[in-house]
Amino acid sequence: MTCRMTADLDPAQARPFLKWVGGKSQLLPELLKHLRADVRGYCEPFVGGGALFFHCAPWLRTRRLPAAIADNNTQLVSSYSAVRDDVEAVIGALRSYAQRYNKSRRHAARKRVYAEIRAEQIPPAEHARVAARLIFLNRTCYNGLYRVNRRGQFNAPMGRYTNPTLCDADNLRACAAILKGVRTVAGDFEATSEYVGRGDFWYADPPYVPLSASSDFTSYTKDPFGPAEQERLAALARRLKKRGIVVLLSNSDTPLVRKLYKSGFDTRVVRARRAINSKTDRRGPVGELLIW
Ligand SMILES: C[S@@+](CC[C@H](N)C(=O)[O-])C[C@H]1O[C@@H](n2cnc3c(N)ncnc32)[C@H](O)[C@@H]1O
Repeated sequence: MTCRMTADLDPAQARPFLKWVGGKSQLLPELLKHLRADVRGYCEPFVGGGALFFHCAPWLRTRRLPAAIADNNTQLVSSYSAVRDDVEAVIGALRSYAQRYNKSRRHAARKRVYAEIRAEQIPPAEHARVAARLIFLNRTCYNGLYRVNRRGQFNAPMGRYTNPTLCDADNLRACAAILKGVRTVAGDFEATSEYVGRGDFWYADPPYVPLSASSDFTSYTKDPFGPAEQERLAALARRLKKRGIVVLLSNSDTPLVRKLYKSGFDTRVVRARRAINSKTDRRGPVGELLIW
């Protein structure tokens, strides 16, 4: 990797600007145990809201280590690029969405504005507007859930918030500072193998193996992440490890995951978590596996 980070604003204050389902903030202390002091770079192929990335970024930056964040959600990656390259334009567009939404406090009126903004088709090249719309929807939709239909159109319903913070300009500017010099890549996780090298830290937090047919969490995305993708990921992790890359993965503790990483990897169960959006919620906690 060749990118380098530069200073602008106080990066130590940057917090993820999106809440993301499957976000890893609760697991940070466990993940950090695997980030060796001698790593030479950082790469996250399923960055989502970037809980680990934002936490580590000041440390990476102090050491002038290159970093790359990737995801196959193109709107998400465009948002990172826009915040990095033109944060004031993102803030401006987000403020105008916020004004429209805050014009009325009535739920029905807000719901109409939400539906209008959700239906907007923004040309992909307009990164700042793409980012503002995604942040707006993320702040106002039900549980911050990113859900799309088969055509890839965002279709999560509006949540019930009295006074959501729609535009946290200070945090967005701190995020812009932390993202300077960070490579942002939209695409399949396998492409990250092209730009990681010996000694780099590569952390993969994929959509989880469903715990049961009814907890098919992967159905929230246009491109499902099924057993074939899990196998492809395990094969990639194996190849990267052979190349001297410091790999770390998290996944649900299921027979398939155990089987895929049975040989050539170490594993440990790190905390109890519950299946999301499924009846299995009521069946109690399940393990989460760290793999390296
Ligand atoms: C569990 S979330 C990651 C959460 C993240 N660790 C966080 O802290 O917010 C999984 C992510 O993988 C992305 N994804 C799904 N399929 C992918 C693929 N084939 N290649 C790359 N990213 C993919 C999704 O868009 C989603 O953002």
